Amino acid sequence: MLQKLELIESEALGLLDLVESQEELAQWRRDHLGRESSLASVLGSLGSLPHEERPAVGKLANEIKRHLLAALEAREGAFGTKSGAHVVDVTLPGLSARACRIHPVTSTIRRMKAAFRQMGFQVFEGPDVETDEYNFAFLNFPPNHPARDSYDTFYTTRPAVLLRTHTSPGQVRVMQRTGAPVRTVIPGACYRYDQPDASHNFMFYQMEGLAVGANIRMTDLLGAIRGLVEMLFGDGHRVRFRGHYFPFTEPSIEADLACTVCNGEGCRLCKYSGWVEIIPGGMVHPNVLRNGGIDPSRFTGFAFGAGVDRIAALLYRLPDIRDLYANDLRFLEQFR
Ligand code: DAH
Repeated sequence: MLQKLELIESEALGLLDLVESQEELAQWRRDHLGRESSLASVLGSLGSLPHEERPAVGKLANEIKRHLLAALEAREGAFGTKSGAHVVDVTLPGLSARACRIHPVTSTIRRMKAAFRQMGFQVFEGPDVETDEYNFAFLNFPPNHPARDSYDTFYTTRPAVLLRTHTSPGQVRVMQRTGAPVRTVIPGACYRYDQPDASHNFMFYQMEGLAVGANIRMTDLLGAIRGLVEMLFGDGHRVRFRGHYFPFTEPSIEADLACTVCNGEGCRLCKYSGWVEIIPGGMVHPNVLRNGGIDPSRFTGFAFGAGVDRIAALLYRLPDIRDLYANDLRFLEQFR
């Protein structure tokens, strides 16, 4: 048995000299040190040897195993798998860190907040997952009212719990918290089961605005919108106001901005009209004030829901708002 072991060792070492690649080295390891190897079978059969032979055979077999492992390690070094991998060349140039950039929607929100701050507005935020009550009922949408249909709502499996379709529920949350007077903007993501196109997406950002006070009038709303546009786009950017309908404002308007992507020539973003719908708004409906705990005989208010992604599109001249969320670094790295 001892002779057999010596033979196993010399054969293995002889074959190790012939190994020429890492693959062959791995194979050698399986053949001579693996579970199926002759060495392993000798070690495994110790129990069936006569008593007096066992210690010597066991000792030699373990010695051989150590030799073979040491020889394997030495050989591995030659192929660079072991010690070679630990070599650090300190003269190589380091890896440069990539500089971060602010997402265009984030910088648009920051610019809008700064503009509203100058007009005396605070910033609040509401939850993305809302109740039917705040998203609709408090905003003067009675149950089963057809105006709910235009909101393509994502409902959850919990009854009356949904992804907010607009930031308007924040109006009631703020009024309930602060009472009147108040001036606030409420930025956040909104969700709609909508067919995406150049100016629509299933997730988009809005910035709600709300001003409630003793003598707030429609002209204050128009002035706030003009103020925002002037601060973001500079003097003389064209704005157009139209009448509109929303259940929670009466009267209601829509503010359109001249398209900067095509300069009025017509493109997908402005649906070939030269104008992009940016800021719907109006005078807060008395029912909504009441739901916010405010007495409509003492206070009036204006509200609006600015489309952040569309404002970003006009600021950065992006022909398609879906690019904002495609996570394509070639697109995102253009913004500084
Ligand atoms: N929440 C409306 C929407 O997403 C937009 C809106 C209209 C907000 C009028 C307002 C408002 O605050 O007064 O369609």
